[in-house]
Amino acid sequence: MPSNVAVPVYGNYHGYYSKRPFIRDHRLALLPTSFFSEKRVLDVGCNEGWVTCEIGQSWGAQRVIGVDIDDTLIRAAWKRRRTVWSLQAPDDHSTCDVDGVSDAEPPTKRRRKSTEKEDELADYFPASCEHVHGPLPIPPQTDKKHVFPHNVSFRTADWVQDEIPEDDTPYDVVLAFSISKWIHLNSGDAGITKFFNRVHNVLKPGGAFVLEPQDWDTYAKAKRMDETLKENAKSLKLLPEDFETILQSIGFGPVQHLGSAGEGGFHRPVDLYIKL
Ligand SMILES: C[S@@+](CC[C@H](N)C(=O)[O-])C[C@H]1O[C@@H](n2cnc3c(N)ncnc32)[C@H](O)[C@@H]1O
Repeated sequence: MPSNVAVPVYGNYHGYYSKRPFIRDHRLALLPTSFFSEKRVLDVGCNEGWVTCEIGQSWGAQRVIGVDIDDTLIRAAWKRRRTVWSLQAPDDHSTCDVDGVSDAEPPTKRRRKSTEKEDELADYFPASCEHVHGPLPIPPQTDKKHVFPHNVSFRTADWVQDEIPEDDTPYDVVLAFSISKWIHLNSGDAGITKFFNRVHNVLKPGGAFVLEPQDWDTYAKAKRMDETLKENAKSLKLLPEDFETILQSIGFGPVQHLGSAGEGGFHRPVDLYIKL
């Protein structure tokens, strides 16, 4: 299984976000602030769920599903959800005593908004507290199923090949950040085309596909990593530059280049396609 392989041939890096740490993801910051508001979102290749949790917690999404091929990463993503919940400030900050522990049980917490005040409160329950005491429990769902943490969940699946139960209800937004190279190298031109078709199929009309494709130059490093990927790469005819044409032929509108985000080798374009 992918979770046991020593070489991360799917881009299934463990500790990915310690190399790419963020408080607010720079790629999401390229999107309009209301982009995810009340939306049903699929995050394909969610890794340890940092982006998925941010969308569910801070962007007002109604529901966010993160899917990844690597089950160990999905377990880490569930843990991340609990950590993010633990760090979230409570509804009524005035109920806290000097140690930052709420008197109110169970604590009700409010949806975070992207304000400076929220940044100040980001460490309400500092990470050191989680190390000592463990994360706070997730409260019962009650009527808050569209509010973090209840609006975020994860699945293990090879989403190019397999459906997940959540796909039965159409999505408003599908995210594919830093995953196209891995799909392309593992499943070839047919695989990446199948992936784009699947994204089209699961989106509502007018739905958004947000793609952060990796440059062809970056394929070389992945090929050096593994003989099968190197072999697979020899038969590739499509290049990342062709993705725009393929997506339009499938039924998406013209690409909207939102800009580039990330530092060093992670500096990549973020593109938006709307399903016609
Ligand atoms: C380089 S990481 C990017 C993580 C995250 N999307 C981000 O940009 O912050 C690529 C992720 O895609 C996952 N992945 C690769 N192929 C996949 C597939 N066919 N189905 C689901 N997940 C996949 C990998 O396990 C890995 O966690």
